[in-house]
Amino acid sequence: MTQAPSFDPSTSILRHLVAAKTPPAQYLGHHIALHGGSGIGGALQAANIPQDYRHLTPQDAPMLGTQADAARAAKRLSERFREHFKDGYRLRSAYLHSTSPGTGKTTLACALLNEFIALNYLAKLKGFPHHRNPAYFLDVNAWQGSYNLAVALGKDSAEMQAFVAELRMAQTAQLIVLDDIGVREATPGFRTHLHTLVNARVAAGKPTIYTSNIEMKELAMVFGEQRLADRVKEQCVEIAFTGESKRGLR
Ligand SMILES: Nc1ncnc2c1ncn2[C@@H]1O[C@H](COP(=O)(O)OP(=O)(O)OP(=O)(O)O)[C@@H](O)[C@H]1O
Ligand SMILES: [Mg+2]
Repeated sequence: MTQAPSFDPSTSILRHLVAAKTPPAQYLGHHIALHGGSGIGGALQAANIPQDYRHLTPQDAPMLGTQADAARAAKRLSERFREHFKDGYRLRSAYLHSTSPGTGKTTLACALLNEFIALNYLAKLKGFPHHRNPAYFLDVNAWQGSYNLAVALGKDSAEMQAFVAELRMAQTAQLIVLDDIGVREATPGFRTHLHTLVNARVAAGKPTIYTSNIEMKELAMVFGEQRLADRVKEQCVEIAFTGESKRGLR
């Protein structure tokens, strides 16, 4: 007789959403739908969440204890997510900012994206309105790197197709994270694509969680124009992260 597969419930983004006494075996199937059987699959893989950030939730992410403003914002945004799935509340964008690196911005951004994916999954399960393409994580620096390679290899290369596929995913997903939007070395060609992406989302009223080491007022430099920077600013709540880098702490 083969043994039923098991999993570590502390890694599941459903852990705080199922009734406290639910035996993990009862939600194994749902865990697999979200995380994949091996932990590298399911809805989180489809949303491109970085592997190290797939277990995070906005209830117990490690930065909540030291980032008071961010912790309050995480609670408020989680409540808004619930209202979104309950009665269609229109979500606003958020701009997670700190001058120092390593303060927990990507951690919270992923925790929130994971929560959105989990709530979307539960809405689907219960037959409530949900999104076919709920979430996408885009690392802006890595995307700039893909662009450089794609340009070097030519417009018909597989690399260019992959670059454009990421653009499409990020354009169409309901909620995305644009991680490290303040990339300083953006090339003019890349800046055009970043502008296209953000402009399309802003025009469609789709929310975005930005993380950045630059102030919102410097965004005009990133997009190459003031108008889009102003529109982003209008639609965003700013969440400040303070202190020095916590990288290396667990
Ligand atoms: N307040 C904290 N307590 C414990 N660990 C933390 C805290 N903040 C961040 N970390 C840890 O530090 C590491 C870096 O966090 P994260 O990637 O979220 O930072 P970041 O603000 O996005 O950094 P960067 O500006 O370089 O992108 C992660 O491993 C995270 O778990
Ligand atoms: Mg980061």
